[in-house]
Amino acid sequence: MGFFSLTQELAIDLGTANTLIIYNGKVVVDEPSIVALDVHTGKVMAIGQQARQMHERTNPNIKTIRPLKDGVIADFSATELMLRGLIKKVRTTSSMFAPSLCMVICIPSGSTNVEIRAVRDSAEHAGGRDIYMIFEPMAAALGAGLDVEAPEGNMVIDIGGGTSEIACISLGGIVCSESINVAGDVFTADIQNYVRQQHNIRIGERTAEDIKCAIGAAVSELDEEPEDYVITGPNMLTALPQTVTLSYNEIAYALEKSLVKLDAALMKVLEAMPPELYADIVKNGIYLAGGGALIKGLDKRLSNKCGLPVHIAEDPLRAIARGTGIAMKNRDKFSFLMRGI
Ligand SMILES: Nc1ncnc2c1ncn2[C@@H]1O[C@H](COP(=O)(O)OP(=O)(O)OP(=O)(O)O)[C@@H](O)[C@H]1O
Ligand SMILES: [Mg+2]
Repeated sequence: MGFFSLTQELAIDLGTANTLIIYNGKVVVDEPSIVALDVHTGKVMAIGQQARQMHERTNPNIKTIRPLKDGVIADFSATELMLRGLIKKVRTTSSMFAPSLCMVICIPSGSTNVEIRAVRDSAEHAGGRDIYMIFEPMAAALGAGLDVEAPEGNMVIDIGGGTSEIACISLGGIVCSESINVAGDVFTADIQNYVRQQHNIRIGERTAEDIKCAIGAAVSELDEEPEDYVITGPNMLTALPQTVTLSYNEIAYALEKSLVKLDAALMKVLEAMPPELYADIVKNGIYLAGGGALIKGLDKRLSNKCGLPVHIAEDPLRAIARGTGIAMKNRDKFSFLMRGI
């Protein structure tokens, strides 16, 4: 390879919450999917972490955009600007002859043709020449270290920011799956609503997300209890500052109505599953990936609901990107990679 290699191969996990890029088997970009734009000129002011710092703190001259919603592109031009900016971070370190870009990008399994086309167009506009797609649950399974091409049932649940995807995979294909829009963003909104209704305090999306990451729980009794979380915000009636201490049980209560939907989707996939594959899952268990897998006690909750073992994939926030990287490296072998439409 080396000097004369004129293609650069990137594996991209374009997520609602985070975008990761893998190059040469290493994560080279791991940033929140946010761009900050100058309202008057439309120029990019910041991308990723820097833009997240500005999120919900802007003045009328700046706007921050999360270009993906529910796992799919909601703002086409902002997605393109974001991808372009993130890819540039990788490109500056490479050779002076801009090599042509080959990309594998993961997409939600419930994507429509129009949505797939949008990802493809965005990637092309951002400089991609050869573009492949992989379904997220497939990438999650690869990232969790499962043998997706074996004649055996493998089951993964990827809980991201915008979508939760539950899929059973065998022989390199998805046998049955469910994709629901109940994921990290909904959990964050649940916490925001709970704090407003229960404690009369207004909090922003970022604070709610911090609460979720610190004490977000899926069951009301945990073996290892996290410390209570203290927040201060304006009282809704008086606008005076008010401080409350939140416990993880309260958050489990706030998340309950969304978690029930996740339970139901899981049961639906299990019901639709052919019995031979079901028997494999009983043996192998279910793998959890995506940021939502870090909600405390979620593995225990799901395991209790369905009576099957549930494991958390190693480094769940990066498992999908890792799997996309594996797909990129073996792209001649994997027939399930799509060349787009
Ligand atoms: N420790 C944690 N506890 C609970 N939730 C967490 C934790 N860490 C991250 N998250 C949540 O995980 C979500 C991000 O996960 P991930 O990066 O897998 O999503 P994504 O791939 O960007 O989204 P999608 O796959 O839906 O497009 C965010 O909603 C974030 O708040
Ligand atoms: Mg994801």
